[in-house]
Amino acid sequence: MNTIRVNLSKNAYPVIIGANLLVQAGARIRREGIVQKNALVVSQKEVSSLYEKTLLESFKKEGIDASIFLTPPAKSSEAAKSKDVFWKLIERMAALDGKNKSLFLVALGGGVIGDLTGFAASVYRRGVPYIQIPTTLTAQVDSAIGGKTAIDLPEGKNLLGSIYQPRIVLSDTNTLKSLPEKRFSEGFAEVIKYGVIEDGSLFSTLEKSGKAKIVQHPKLLEEVIARCVKIKARVVSLDELDQKNIRIVLNFGHTAGHALEAASSFSHAYTHGEAVAIGMLVACDISTRLGLLKDPSLSARLETLLIKFGLPVFYKNIETRLILEAMGYDKKSEAGKNRFVLPIRLGKTQIVRDIPQEIITESLLKRKR
Ligand SMILES: NC(=O)c1ccc[n+]([C@@H]2O[C@H](COP(=O)([O-])OP(=O)(O)OC[C@H]3O[C@@H](n4cnc5c(N)ncnc54)[C@H](O)[C@@H]3O)[C@@H](O)[C@H]2O)c1
Ligand SMILES: [Zn+2]
Repeated sequence: MNTIRVNLSKNAYPVIIGANLLVQAGARIRREGIVQKNALVVSQKEVSSLYEKTLLESFKKEGIDASIFLTPPAKSSEAAKSKDVFWKLIERMAALDGKNKSLFLVALGGGVIGDLTGFAASVYRRGVPYIQIPTTLTAQVDSAIGGKTAIDLPEGKNLLGSIYQPRIVLSDTNTLKSLPEKRFSEGFAEVIKYGVIEDGSLFSTLEKSGKAKIVQHPKLLEEVIARCVKIKARVVSLDELDQKNIRIVLNFGHTAGHALEAASSFSHAYTHGEAVAIGMLVACDISTRLGLLKDPSLSARLETLLIKFGLPVFYKNIETRLILEAMGYDKKSEAGKNRFVLPIRLGKTQIVRDIPQEIITESLLKRKR
């Protein structure tokens, strides 16, 4: 088991990573000083059907009364970050809270559930406690830590949100065993990202072990997650409110990645992690063209590593023009307003603004098949 503290001046909290943590959830919540009696566990059917029972038993032992709020079935998981689901959740919270005002929320699921739950917790009665129990690799290494919460609006993703820290993050690595393969691989895009931006030795560990070995060795998986969490926790502690241009480093691969995700959103061709995988290669190429990344082997190593973890390294059937448009390059926008996190060597990045569009286009085209 690994415990990493997110060191914040006011709202510090632990992230605990280990196998079989669900059974200890109730006791750990109490140990963190959460005294509230009524838990509302927010989850999705795929997750709650597997893990709810164990979690509720651990709550019962501590005298915590728990109810479940399941997001309605939908074609995409992201649909749970809608105003309708959010409002249903708020109504349920108000009904449960009643006179005793002893409510806290528990997010049991991936980033979608974490974002929805965190946002509801942040605004109901101007803030009630919540805990994160992330069950996807993406959520365990990224979204459950740092307190960014949000729901989507028809006008765009994550438009209504807040920064509101959980009281504790419990990452039970056993829950990852039930993740569909594609979802598991997708999470490794973020893991590899941490390797490139800050931790060359994590990158080498991933190169040496590959996905199969990590899956077969739970301790190794736990160690890999903990190393990612350490980086995220440190970055968040330096820039909790995302106002100092420090958290931005976590966006490596995300400028082109988000644009590719948006350009392919209609066909759902790429998941977030898959788009980030390609976005990281685009960033490496831009960096090489700008003369910032002098080590030519990094792009090749990154490409090999992504393939090893089942991630795509080329995009297909998407017009490059649409990706550029998603980045803001259309007839109306001013040219040259962009911001990329570029690697300058393994473990070190630089933020670069206003990169000429031709360079971005060339680097994108290199990744088109
Ligand atoms: N707050 C942040 O800092 C932050 C950072 C990154 C991403 N995000 C958000 O996270 C969301 C994506 O999260 P995600 O990638 O975790 O996907 P997700 O939450 O949509 O989960 C993916 C699917 O896997 C299922 N699932 C989850 N855990 C499972 C398990 N253990 N076994 C079987 N099935 C399981 C879910 O029910 C869902 O259908 C996006 O909305 C994104 O905006 C937030
Ligand atoms: Zn991401």
